[in-house]
Amino acid sequence: MQILLIHGPNLNLLGEREPDVYGSTTMEQINEMVRKVAETRGITIIAFQSNHEGSIIDFIHAHRKTAAGIIINPGAYTHYSYAIRDAVAGVNLPAVEVHLSDIKKREPFRQISVIEPVCVAQVSGLGAQSYVKGFEELLKVIEK
Ligand code: DQA
Repeated sequence: MQILLIHGPNLNLLGEREPDVYGSTTMEQINEMVRKVAETRGITIIAFQSNHEGSIIDFIHAHRKTAAGIIINPGAYTHYSYAIRDAVAGVNLPAVEVHLSDIKKREPFRQISVIEPVCVAQVSGLGAQSYVKGFEELLKVIEK
């Protein structure tokens, strides 16, 4: 089984980017954390990062027939990308939205997610652990 792990814009800079908000764990370390948990279940994680909306959409489309689900941190696209929302809705795969910071406790523009309504769960505010929790939430739905 394959699960997509998608990181949106600026998340390639994790570790050096606003560490007081996003922590010191790098994106590669997060990928490894999720891969390790997934391996114990025989699941393959296909990780991808892009700073471009269309590339994220192309990646979702390209894997729509082979993946069992999606873990996505859309970064700032969370708050306004109807195109990513439509891609997630359109491929009919269960998706979990994850955030390092607690977006509900931040600036008003971050409190709104246009992606959340097309996801099976949202995990926010646990730092790098949000991704591991997100993986577990996704598995619950896939294995149901
Ligand atoms: C984020 C929250 C977003 O508001 C922000 O634009 C990000 C990271 C998070 O993981 O906390 O890039 O998605």
